[in-house]
Amino acid sequence: MPELSVVVPAYRERENIPLLLDALEQALVGLDWEAIVVADSADDGTEEVVREHAQRDRRVRIIQRIGRRGLASACIEGMLSSSAPYLAVMDADLQHDETLLPKLLDEAKRGGADVVVASRYMEGGSTGELAAERVRVSRLASALSSVLCKGLTDPMSGFFVVRRTFLERVVRKLYGRGFKILLDMIAAARGQVKLAELPYRMRSRERGESKLGVRVIAEFFMLILYHLTGRLLPARFFLFGLVGVTGVVVQLGVLSLAFGASAQFLYSQIVATWVAMTSNFFLNNIFTYGDQRLRGARMWRGLISFYMACGIGAFINIALAEWLFIKTVPYWAAGLTGALVASLWNFFTTASFTWGGSGARKR
Ligand code: GDD
Ligand code: MN
Repeated sequence: MPELSVVVPAYRERENIPLLLDALEQALVGLDWEAIVVADSADDGTEEVVREHAQRDRRVRIIQRIGRRGLASACIEGMLSSSAPYLAVMDADLQHDETLLPKLLDEAKRGGADVVVASRYMEGGSTGELAAERVRVSRLASALSSVLCKGLTDPMSGFFVVRRTFLERVVRKLYGRGFKILLDMIAAARGQVKLAELPYRMRSRERGESKLGVRVIAEFFMLILYHLTGRLLPARFFLFGLVGVTGVVVQLGVLSLAFGASAQFLYSQIVATWVAMTSNFFLNNIFTYGDQRLRGARMWRGLISFYMACGIGAFINIALAEWLFIKTVPYWAAGLTGALVASLWNFFTTASFTWGGSGARKR
């Protein structure tokens, strides 16, 4: 049984994988290790390259995910597929210095830490040639994350070793989306975690490109909200709610344009509602369900079921608010309750009927 599993999330990293696996082999000489590459299918040949290498080296294996995306979920599934007592997570793009791995492992074993983080921001560490802009954003995110996690210089790091018993303790409480799996695990531990850090110099990416985008930034805020609110609602609900707020803005915008042009209220309101529902669907498909986005024919089918679910939601909203209002509840409280209940309805019905299957079951 290997002592250390190195979990490597990979999306479109065909050129980096062979270099990384060779580098691991050199860096981990004398250790009992394995590498688990979690590759989300992109038809760029990443999986083939891993499998080819795995045919020559039994310490290497692959988890191939089809129709799925997400760095954090890839790391979680990779870690869960291992039985080693220590788990490392590192990127596939050679930005993380693999020669630090034995030291991270040693610190966990000897120092007894649950999590040993490779830090760019402690003495001796560096962000290398990372663009100044990226460093600023990373620093800002680190500062924000201090509401969830204290005592780390680099809570945004994607390079660390954890003890398997620690993973088991927190794995059911994770947000599990976006890029920040380390912060997620530490927030889930609620202070019950022994931390250590070691410095490293981050390299720059030579091949392939970064996958950090707007969705990842949105996920970061959702991660913070999720843990701050005590994990009350399913993780996706926060993004769904945020999209709902943009829907209100779209609705009012279109209403004022259409009403201004036609001076017909009912007609303008119908058009505004339809536009807002449509934009909500596409935003949810990209952001809330970006990891299992509907495409092609499934997307149009999804749009129809979304219209139906939200249509019923609107009916519930109006009926409930009217009933409360008649029962002498103040108008704003009646309206707010109607809207809240309808958004819960919309969320749970579209989670199973529109984005169905795995989406509904996955928390
Ligand atoms: N399986 C899978 N699925 N892997 C993914 C996905 C995905 O959807 N998105 C990204 N990855 C993989 C990439 O292939 C790469 O190996 C690793 O995750 C990091 O992605 P990058 O796009 O290179 O991220 P970055 O360099 O901007 O940021 C990384 O390093 C920072 C410093 O440690 C991330 O790990 C950050 O969280 C971290 O702060
Ligand atoms: Mn990278």
